[in-house]
Amino acid sequence: MEKGNDGGMSTATCSCPLGTGPVVRGEGPTPCRIAIIGEAPGYHEARTGRPFVGPAGEELALFLSLAGLRRQDVYITNIVACRPPSNRVPVAIERAACRPRLDAELAAAGAKILLLLGATALADFLPNVALGLYHGVAFRREGQILVPMYHPAAGLHQEHLRGLAADDWLHLIER
Ligand code: URA
Repeated sequence: MEKGNDGGMSTATCSCPLGTGPVVRGEGPTPCRIAIIGEAPGYHEARTGRPFVGPAGEELALFLSLAGLRRQDVYITNIVACRPPSNRVPVAIERAACRPRLDAELAAAGAKILLLLGATALADFLPNVALGLYHGVAFRREGQILVPMYHPAAGLHQEHLRGLAADDWLHLIER
């Protein structure tokens, strides 16, 4: 995936079927202690070129504050960098095509703690872990701590998930 000639906003030039529109790369300080990994950019993210700036981003900002974190102190990215049509879940071939980009971002961030937002991020990092059973639980792997969390967008549709997610963020630092 390479930077396009479009005055700052990059466009994808990779083999991924999603790679025809704006690329939304991760953002945040590098190095960084905490990296947050979502699923895919939506309308607002593709328009601005920034991850988590729409309604899910507002929800994420709320959760970050519950954990005593500031957006500018964490690295935020997504499993895929391009918006899937109709915001559908990115399929395996798209996720695999975008993985080198994600790995490079995470290597640059060097985060010790990875917060995996939603089932898509969880499937790629902890494939046998069920979100409903293990949300908020820390998994130690190769010097990193991986924590499955509900995706902020889930709580926008299901109020009880919002409560569960809020509780996980509130207790994040203790786990
Ligand atoms: N916005 C993002 O950047 N990622 C998501 O997973 C959802 C909304």
